[in-house]
Order: sequence, then structure tokens, then C-alpha cells
Amino acid sequence: MKHILSSDQFTKEDLEEIFKLTDDIKNNPKKYANSLNDKIIAVMFYEPSTRTRLSFETAALKLGAKIITTENAKEFSSAIKGETIQDTVRIIAGYADAMVIRHSSDTSAEEAASVNKIPILNAGAGKGEHPTQALLDLYTIRNKKGKIDGVKVAILGDLLYGRTIHSLIKLLSLYDNVEIYGLSKKAFELPEKYIEMLKERGIEYKKCNSFDELPRDLDVIYHTRIQSERFEGDYGKEEFIINKKVLDTFSKDTILLHPLPRVIEISTDVDDDPRACYFEQAHNGLYVRMALLLQVFDRA
Ligand code: NCD
Repeated sequence: MKHILSSDQFTKEDLEEIFKLTDDIKNNPKKYANSLNDKIIAVMFYEPSTRTRLSFETAALKLGAKIITTENAKEFSSAIKGETIQDTVRIIAGYADAMVIRHSSDTSAEEAASVNKIPILNAGAGKGEHPTQALLDLYTIRNKKGKIDGVKVAILGDLLYGRTIHSLIKLLSLYDNVEIYGLSKKAFELPEKYIEMLKERGIEYKKCNSFDELPRDLDVIYHTRIQSERFEGDYGKEEFIINKKVLDTFSKDTILLHPLPRVIEISTDVDDDPRACYFEQAHNGLYVRMALLLQVFDRA
């Protein structure tokens, strides 16, 4: 049974296969319109979402599948009565052919997959991973820059709780000569275990303290929102805000990405800059998720 649980599960070859399939879906959507018309996908979101949920649901519908879903699974499913994720999956497996799950627990996707009755797609697990986001992020980098090997990427914002960051750097680490720079407030630095993982894979992580310490010829600036729902207390607001003035200190070829939602970390005055690719990035999510649904059902 094929699940999508973590960026750890992919090889470079797997990624190229997913990206090629994504390109084909984008170019020939009609070809896939009935690929999953015998399937029902359960969509269980225990945390808020706009893009991930609606793009997964649209992806399923565009492939001909049907969806069943519960609005706000944290309150409206039996989780509130104390049901475990495993028991929920055992029940849903009697109704649906796959389940997409977002949950506040880092281990939620693995717990769901441990039942091994239907494919599980991790749509965000606590502060752990968000592999489908990382795939669409990398797909965007590949398409905009024409390469992934050798890219210089700066990760900004919440490197501690940001699951999109954790999944993205794992994927980037599969490529050759990648350089990763980190810029965040002290309270939101990248955990040591990820720095170690990069080191083991031959990537030196360069921690920076100001915009000035980042190379001007970065290929990608990847900003993120401080995940304020994940901690108690007040660590203040984002200090490293990208506005037009800051962006103009970088190369004209540096692209600006963000998993969204953005709050204050990217000013709206850069939205019209050709380097601001975050809305296009979000739209790529639809096609990448169509590719992943096809793959879990072996219908690619
Ligand atoms: C991200 C998430 O949920 O981790 N959102 C998304 O899926 N695009 C990032 C965030 O919420 O800040």
C-alpha cells in the first residue's frame, strides 16, 4: 500500500516521476478526467486550511473521484469523544478508498497509516512534516529556475515549528550542490536535528542574522509565517519582512516563495513583482496533488 507520509520516502528519481506526471496533467487535464471515477476520498482536517484542503478536494474531483469530508474534524468528528486516529481510519476504510489527513500531532499520519487499510496522504502533521506542500514547492522551483541541483535557497520565518520548511529541506537535500541559508528570529531557529541531517547529506547549513548576510544571487527566498498556534507565550512579531526595498537588494532572478497564508512577513507591495511566485506556487498544488492521488492508486 502506498502512503504519502514524509519527504523521507522519496528518492530523486521518484520526484522526477511526480514532476513529469504533474506536467502532463497540467498540459492534458482531459486525459485524466475519469482516472479515479470509481474512488471515494475521505478528507479529514483537524486543523484549519484553505489551500491544502480545497486543492486536494479539487484534485480528487478533477480526476473523477468523489469526496466525503467533515467540516472541522477536531470538533465534529468522534475525536472530541476520545476516538483514536487508528479507530477513525478503521471506520473510514469501510467507506472511502483513501484518506487525506491534517492533524496537530507530529505522528498523526504515521498513526493513520499504521492501520494499513487505505492509502493515507499527510496534509500537515503538527510541527513535523507537510510533504505534499514540499513537493509543490520543489515543483515550482524546478519550473521557475529550470533546475534543482545547485540552487541557493534561503529559508526564513518560523524554522522551528514550520512543517513546510522541514519537509522542503529534506527534499532539497537529495540534490547536488544545494546551498541552504537560514534567517529567523532566535526563538524560531532550525532545530539541531535538521542541521545534522543536512550535514550528513553533505549540505552545510548557513545560519544568518540579517538580510545582509544572505548572498545577493539567491535562487529562492522561501518565507514562512510564525506558527503562533503552536506555542504559548509571546515571542514578538516577525523581524525579517520582505518588502519591495528588501527584495530589490537581491538579484532580478531571485524568486520569492511562501506556502501561504502570509501575514506580515511579505508586504503586499511585492505582489506584482515578477519575482513573487507564491500565488503560482499555490496553484501548482492542485496538479501535484492530482499526480499524488493517481500514484497512490497506481493509475499514473
Ligand atoms: C502551511 C501549513 O499548514 O503548514 N500552510 C499550507 O498548507 N499552505 C503553512 C502555514 O500555515 O503557515
